[in-house]
Amino acid sequence: MIDSSLRKIVHAEKGLVDRRIFNSQEIYDQELEQVFGRSWLFVAHESQIAKPNDFVANYMAEDPVLITRDSKGKLHTFLNMCRHRGNRICRADAGNAPSFMCTYHGWTFATDGKLVGVPGYKEAYFEELDRSQWGLVEAPTDTYKGLIFANWDKSAPSLIDYLGDAAWYLDLFLDRRAGGTEIIGGAHRWVMNFNWKFGSDNFGGDNYHTLVTHGSMSASGMTTGRRPAINADQSRFIVAAGNGHCILGGYTGSEVNNFGVNADSVVGKYQLDINKELTQRLGPARGRQAAMGIGTLFPNFTWHGSPMIRNWHPRGPLKTEIWSWCIVDKDAPKEVKDAMRDNYIQRFGPAGNMEQDDANNWMNSTDLAKSLTARKYPLNMQMGINHEWTNETHPGISLGHNWSESNWRHFYARWAEVMDAPSWRDIPIQPRTK
Ligand code: FES
Ligand SMILES: [Fe+2]
Repeated sequence: MIDSSLRKIVHAEKGLVDRRIFNSQEIYDQELEQVFGRSWLFVAHESQIAKPNDFVANYMAEDPVLITRDSKGKLHTFLNMCRHRGNRICRADAGNAPSFMCTYHGWTFATDGKLVGVPGYKEAYFEELDRSQWGLVEAPTDTYKGLIFANWDKSAPSLIDYLGDAAWYLDLFLDRRAGGTEIIGGAHRWVMNFNWKFGSDNFGGDNYHTLVTHGSMSASGMTTGRRPAINADQSRFIVAAGNGHCILGGYTGSEVNNFGVNADSVVGKYQLDINKELTQRLGPARGRQAAMGIGTLFPNFTWHGSPMIRNWHPRGPLKTEIWSWCIVDKDAPKEVKDAMRDNYIQRFGPAGNMEQDDANNWMNSTDLAKSLTARKYPLNMQMGINHEWTNETHPGISLGHNWSESNWRHFYARWAEVMDAPSWRDIPIQPRTK
């Protein structure tokens, strides 16, 4: 454990972070235990497993998991591992089945995790194997408005306390319409050579990069058709929501803001069409925001109004496996859903133009962390330091200018706190305030 030295290399309050946190195997191993082993992690959307005995596969960090709706309708998250000799019990990505039979020796598990079949139970085990003790390994599971989360640590706070004030912002994409949301299509999955934190922190804290990294997008008219500029307007801001969660897209302007979506596009028109319903559901502070927003839940779940949700699954310190889904309002007309899917794929699918802009930079920043000389120089996250504020309308522990790195300072302060803490008793939780 490097915990005694972590505080020495992560000075989030000063906006200085040592590059080793993006590169060290030792720190990575500690992350698997301390961060991913006890955080609430997004595993599926309820629309993926709508019927009894539906299942879908995902990962919790490096642990393969199966998310099931059992025959009585209850949700579960299981380690995708046979309890006999550790084989995977299900190799399909998704489907519907009352049970899973291991292909090694045939132990069979029901969708509620119980061991229901053991070949030779009478003749070879003499009925002495206590099958009730050998069900699938299960992680506590809970939902927030269609999103399913699981957590290996039974001493963790409740999901709603863990989400805290981030839930208020999650509603901007989960609760816009009466029907809620649904996933369309399967997951896009691909592996890139960057540390997982680059993906998480980018979507939670980096408006600054859009000007240069994605300059060609606005120059070509694919966003609003005009190049955004750094300005002093404080009606758009970023939010450190507490508990490490970070939001891009706080807004207190008087006009309805569709956040870069062309107002005369199919999606832009739809966003304005449903704004009245959204305002009735979520109130005036959120009603002025037509788009779904952008954010990252600590540690590795991101949403973006393109519209998509994704996991940044860690695959060693230098690799990330991205699992990405298109999410839409269930009540949206088909032509809007089709346009949203096309937008998402064009921007953030594996070959998406914005996706490639981003990943190229993150790979270089990760790669440079291998340089012994580069490691002597910390990364700078000092933009907007000591210029944060709070307001009455938008919950969160601090708001920062749209061009600020205040969310990064929050994210890495939380990361260091969780990495150092022996248990959840030592980790402060900021419950929901609004
Ligand atoms: S490993 Fe699954 S039945 Fe033996
Ligand atoms: Fe980007």
